[in-house]
Amino acid sequence: MEVNKIREDFPILRKKVNNHDLVYLDNAATSQKPARVVKAIEDFYFNYNANVHRGLHTLSEEASEMYENARKRVATFINAGHESEIIFTSGTTDSLNFVAQTWARKNLKKGDVILMTEAEHHSNLVPWQIVAEETGAEIEYVELGKDGDITLEDFKSKITPKVKLAAFFHCSNVLGITLPVKEISKLVKQNGGIVVVDGAQAVPHMSLNVQNLGCDFYAFSGHKMLGPMGIGVLWVSREILESLDPYKYGGGMIDLVEMKSSTWAISPEKFEAGTPNVAGAVGLAAAIDYLSEIGMDNVSSHEKELLTYAVQKLKEIDRVKFVGPADVSSRHGLISFYLDGIHAHDVASVLNSIGVAVRSGHHCAMPLHKKLDIPASVRASFYVYNTKVEVDKLIEGIRKSIEILG
Ligand SMILES: Cc1ncc(COP(=O)(O)O)c(C=O)c1O
Repeated sequence: MEVNKIREDFPILRKKVNNHDLVYLDNAATSQKPARVVKAIEDFYFNYNANVHRGLHTLSEEASEMYENARKRVATFINAGHESEIIFTSGTTDSLNFVAQTWARKNLKKGDVILMTEAEHHSNLVPWQIVAEETGAEIEYVELGKDGDITLEDFKSKITPKVKLAAFFHCSNVLGITLPVKEISKLVKQNGGIVVVDGAQAVPHMSLNVQNLGCDFYAFSGHKMLGPMGIGVLWVSREILESLDPYKYGGGMIDLVEMKSSTWAISPEKFEAGTPNVAGAVGLAAAIDYLSEIGMDNVSSHEKELLTYAVQKLKEIDRVKFVGPADVSSRHGLISFYLDGIHAHDVASVLNSIGVAVRSGHHCAMPLHKKLDIPASVRASFYVYNTKVEVDKLIEGIRKSIEILG
């Protein structure tokens, strides 16, 4: 993988921050965009802009074709069985709320259990709390293991026939670990439950075969994988798709509307009421093409190399405490840590003074930070354009934080 060549495709990486070269290590929050993605969006608006599925004129037909081609690109990228299983949403949060408000609200009842882990992003936690309140179902958590990991073993004792819905991350946005989705799904399904996977931190970083995972719903966002903000995906398995109710109602999702009642179109239109984010879908397709050209296995191995290097360097600094397992083998390309006695925000602020962008805070995982008994952590997350020189800059900034803040 030629990182220097890749970097040329990202104009923002030429930016100076506080008179230093920008070192962007906040990729888990959102990734940067290659010129090609921005150009694809511009091209759509300049040359094809029209509403989809509604007009018989040329522009509308072209826009519709671009939108549906984007759906096909997504389907191929995650190995979906058919493009009708791909529902465009505004992002992971929207996708998870979709499942909560459709399948879960209709099917859960008192006595049922919703199973999550203690390390979920708020987007995969709060929607289930609301559904639990509405339906009388109870929430249970798979606890964090002593070494900061969560394994299949931890899930096993929690999966019973009462678990009607299990919702968990594929890759954690704080711990940096990857869950064995296939094995967990198998157990949940054997016990009669359905599985919802939050793939926000997985799809951008690894090759995926969603059919092979055995889950029922898989959610992710475009903006974390070089695509634009405001577009995301909910993949729904064939078996569930047919019986799923619409999430929103209005134009574009109907078959027949009468004064007192209406019927619905088939998937995916059934689930995409209103004017969709066509430009977003076109931009996402361009991002997928870009990632596919690099090759997802190359993306994963590049990130792993950076992670291994970063962990090795961080281990040389005594004050650094890792969040999640220190063993890099079970980790993907992000690392969260804190410095004994120094607040994460202060570390991030010193890093910013030398151009290094990291995230500090609870990373939308307040219950996890409470469990770990730390107010906040620093998170450095890597992507295709990051280099070892940038990791060195991160380390330099951490050492500087200790020097300045004591
Ligand atoms: C694991 C995880 N789930 C869900 C989300 C929410 O994604 P979005 O804000 O794109 O909806 C994020 C974003 O940081 C995430 O890391």
